[in-house]
Amino acid sequence: MAAIRCVFRAEYGRLVAHVLLLLSLAVYSSYGGGCTFPEGWTGSWFQSGNPGLITINKTHIQMKGECYETDSNDKFLLYYRNEDCYRCMVIHEKHKYVLQYKETYCNSKDSLSSMCESITGDASLYSMFRKEPKPVPQPCPFHPAPFTFTYYRGSEECTYPLSRAESCTDDSRLLLRYMACADMLSSESNVEELVCLATWKEGSTRYLVGQISQVQRRNSIASDEDTYRCFIYKGQHTDKTTTYTIAQSADATCNGLSSPMDGSRTMKLTSSDDEHNRCHFPSWIVQHHKWFSLDHTHQYHFTTKNATLKIINEDGSFEERRLVCHSILEQKDKKYIKLVAHVTKGCESGHQCVQFHRRESSVLELQAGGQLADAPHDACAPPHLAAPHVTLITTSLTPTRCPILGRYSVVSSLADRRRRRQQLTIGDEEADEQRAAECVVGDYRSASLGCGHAQDSIEFRSPCSSTVYTCHGAWQAGSKGFVLVYDARAVRPRASCLVYTAPSTNDTRAGTVQQLSLSVMSHSCDRSVQPGVAGDKAYNLTLNGTCEQSSKYSAAVSPAPAVFVLMTSLATLPLR
Ligand SMILES: *[C@@H]1O[C@H](CO)[C@@H](O)[C@H](O)[C@H]1NC(C)=O
Ligand SMILES: *[C@@H]1O[C@H](CO)[C@@H](O)[C@H](O)[C@H]1NC(C)=O
Ligand SMILES: *[C@@H]1O[C@H](CO)[C@@H](O)[C@H](O)[C@H]1NC(C)=O
Ligand SMILES: *[C@@H]1O[C@H](CO)[C@@H](O)[C@H](O)[C@H]1NC(C)=O
Ligand SMILES: *[C@@H]1O[C@H](CO)[C@@H](O)[C@H](O)[C@H]1NC(C)=O
Repeated sequence: MAAIRCVFRAEYGRLVAHVLLLLSLAVYSSYGGGCTFPEGWTGSWFQSGNPGLITINKTHIQMKGECYETDSNDKFLLYYRNEDCYRCMVIHEKHKYVLQYKETYCNSKDSLSSMCESITGDASLYSMFRKEPKPVPQPCPFHPAPFTFTYYRGSEECTYPLSRAESCTDDSRLLLRYMACADMLSSESNVEELVCLATWKEGSTRYLVGQISQVQRRNSIASDEDTYRCFIYKGQHTDKTTTYTIAQSADATCNGLSSPMDGSRTMKLTSSDDEHNRCHFPSWIVQHHKWFSLDHTHQYHFTTKNATLKIINEDGSFEERRLVCHSILEQKDKKYIKLVAHVTKGCESGHQCVQFHRRESSVLELQAGGQLADAPHDACAPPHLAAPHVTLITTSLTPTRCPILGRYSVVSSLADRRRRRQQLTIGDEEADEQRAAECVVGDYRSASLGCGHAQDSIEFRSPCSSTVYTCHGAWQAGSKGFVLVYDARAVRPRASCLVYTAPSTNDTRAGTVQQLSLSVMSHSCDRSVQPGVAGDKAYNLTLNGTCEQSSKYSAAVSPAPAVFVLMTSLATLPLR
């Protein structure tokens, strides 16, 4: 009886085994129907040693085969139709731009697990870097730039002179300035630009993939094989400094890197921020974090604890410049400051002499320009040429009293080169018509400056048009006077700078002058513009009376031009 039971048990066991096998076969075939790769992998990839790019779509990896079965993790069985064979690929997505894989040869079909198990630990590891869709560079992991660094070539270390790594305005770029060491034949002075594309961590090891280009030989066409490099790095932070030990791969793979001290090239970066011993822009500048050029094409943004000025060019080029306050040389009240700034423009950097002049709480003039000096103390040293004045304003301008008062006749204007053909008599209907036909918009006949209760507006008039500016700050420089004006009624309201020949006598207190030449500039308070001669608009004026004498007008003109328009329309409308 016991023997029979035993046989039965053995039979039963075999049956169970059969059922399990059948079940697993059923599952197997439902998997074998095909599979898909993660959506993020779709695109074209570069792999070192491969001519051309490797295309991956939902179901296929070019030259490898179609997705046949997957364990839904990192193992894929691929069917290669051309040769009717199967291979296992173990693919790891290290970063959305970096895939790494190991693979078997293409063989006859076996189960996913047994094929994949045949991949040994020391099998070759391949790295693919995404080319299409084009990757967006990622911030480089080395902070805070700039750094000094030493580097190894072979077993020799180049320590003197120190090489430098500088940041670019775009934090996904780093400029590596290699210096040559006199006693080292394998060292070479060279400038390389690193564009960071991907970083990831495996255990405690940090990886970076980037592209290196030769700055001085930029015209030569560098291949992907020449530019893609993989790095292992390690950062150490103390109170005062940050150091990075970095190993760079010899080729466009991540092979041959085992530690930050061990690569085809290794370097040791040390932050040299003490050189940057930062100062702060004064409160009378940074009380407004954002300033603009007159035409609003450039934005001046004070950031990072009031030590950094970012200049963003928004007129289509989106160029960015970064100025870090390095040292203050001179300060006068809360009106003037001269300082040395460390400037970064693209990957170019150096020191520049920077001057700010406060003209009104919301009007500044900035002078910064010229060559970038390597040494901070060279930036403002003679022969330092004065840079052009750039006018900066905030979005909130407060009206101020205009510097010149009176009613003027326009003798000539730039818009008036055609000249009035004939003197017209008022009241004559024919002449009126003729005048209407001749009246050129912007061809002004008269101007009233600072008339009205607040004395804060300038109005140009012709029989058919007028322009009203409000004054927002005035100052003098040499023989020229400047007024920041704003035309609120323009189709696109905007600020301009008005330059005039300042009266040479002390009669400015009276505010009236006999002859006045002035120009309107839309770009900045350009010192080189001759009033009445150049500029976007230019006028020569002669005095035709004080504001008070214009009683005929003053009632209508004052107090504010906008009100004047309203009053005339109210007065005329009911009559029609
Ligand atoms: C993927 O690419 C293969 C060729 O490599 C092509 O035959 C297939 O139709 C493509 N599939 C999709 C979904 O585009
Ligand atoms: C920057 O300057 C402004 C204006 O003076 C001040 O209110 C602010 O506290 C400053 N910020 C820092 C971090 O110093
Ligand atoms: C000068 O002012 C008088 C009024 O005071 C006016 O009648 C005359 O048209 C003005 N002349 C010019 C050229 O504006
Ligand atoms: C204004 O006067 C100056 C000097 O008299 C002359 O050179 C200039 O051309 C005049 N401007 C205009 C707009 O006519
Ligand atoms: C202006 O006034 C000051 C003193 O108030 C005098 O020293 C100077 O000579 C005057 N300038 C002119 C051009 O009159």
